[in-house]
Amino acid sequence: MPSHAPLTLLGGLTASDFLRDHWQQKPLLIRGAFAEFESPLSPDELAGLACEENVEARLVEEYGHDEKGTPCPWKVSHGPFNEDTFAHLPERNWTLLVQAVDHYVPEVAELLEQFSFLPRWRLDDIMMSYAPPGGSVGPHLDQYDVFLLQASGQRRWQLGGKVSHDAPIIEGIDLRILKRFNVSADHDWVLEPGDMLYLPPGWAHHGVSQSDDCLTISVGFRAPSADEAVTSFADYLGEQLPSSLRYSDAGMAVSSDTSELDDAAVARMRALILDTLDDPAQLAQWFGRVMTQTKYPDQLSPSDTPTDPAELISLLQEGDVLQRTPGSRFAWRAIDTQRATLFVDGDGLIIHLPLAQALANPDTPLDHHLLAEDGASELLTHLLDAGSLCWHWEVQEDMADNG
Ligand code: SIN
Ligand code: CO
Repeated sequence: MPSHAPLTLLGGLTASDFLRDHWQQKPLLIRGAFAEFESPLSPDELAGLACEENVEARLVEEYGHDEKGTPCPWKVSHGPFNEDTFAHLPERNWTLLVQAVDHYVPEVAELLEQFSFLPRWRLDDIMMSYAPPGGSVGPHLDQYDVFLLQASGQRRWQLGGKVSHDAPIIEGIDLRILKRFNVSADHDWVLEPGDMLYLPPGWAHHGVSQSDDCLTISVGFRAPSADEAVTSFADYLGEQLPSSLRYSDAGMAVSSDTSELDDAAVARMRALILDTLDDPAQLAQWFGRVMTQTKYPDQLSPSDTPTDPAELISLLQEGDVLQRTPGSRFAWRAIDTQRATLFVDGDGLIIHLPLAQALANPDTPLDHHLLAEDGASELLTHLLDAGSLCWHWEVQEDMADNG
């Protein structure tokens, strides 16, 4: 995508303008980001998804008090739900949230293509919410960037500025709702279908449904925390280090007090740790694996019987096309001018560079043209058997039957 073309999706900003001025820095309200947008799902279809096993769904209800009159403003329940759940809900003040809808509904997955001005491996998944009038999840902040696209009905969004990560939250509920929320007067909008609001991490926000058909699509992003990154990289390296690589103190001076842990000892340990960690090649290998880990590994279904590569070749030659399994994640990184690591669902495979680029690019069809590349049939067979590729959208078809 050319970085200098004005994008309707970004309210006429170019991708470069947006990345320079807004991304990770300040919100952007985009009226008409999607012209004449029609929601890919109805509220009933979203509720149908929330009744499926393995689909992560939450219901957030807001009450002043519980049945006994005790103050209990919020109640959170986790799916799967059933028809009974929805039959007993009040007419106002609740929200249904369904995670990773792009894994089940192709039309929702297609929305991700609009965000190709950002690295694909930064995208996480698409959450979708439904709320009758008054429904919200309370004022809160998220630790990740999000694009909030109004899919149908109206939602009023109010922003409370950038807030410290340790701002006080209401205790005793399974939801991080801010105790204090001060709306800035110029950050108060009602979004209509096709309008979109970009929010950087850490911005307090509160979205309240204004209609009985309020559906909101959240395109969320991934950014590992320093805490996760340090432990995960250390684990990755640790698995490969020989136990013979140890703290060593050859040539040390005689100590005046043998009980003291002196500066020289601390410096030796520090050097061992930092020298081991400071390995850019290993770091790249770990990073690609982490950023392509699937959110729901159970949704990948590895095959019980290995595919015969000859059969796969003939299917492709007959015109069949492989699909990237919904929820599977791909990225690549060059090793030299010929070879690359293809990262797939947390694994790393060293293959021919053009083949890695083709597999990881969501716009490249996985058809018979790929067979011209060295090692293609073995790679495709491996990825099909691992569950990262499939012949069609099986999950979604099941959902549509039941939804
Ligand atoms: C919602 O869709 O109700 C909440 C989305 C968000 O605040 O991140
Ligand atoms: Co939020």
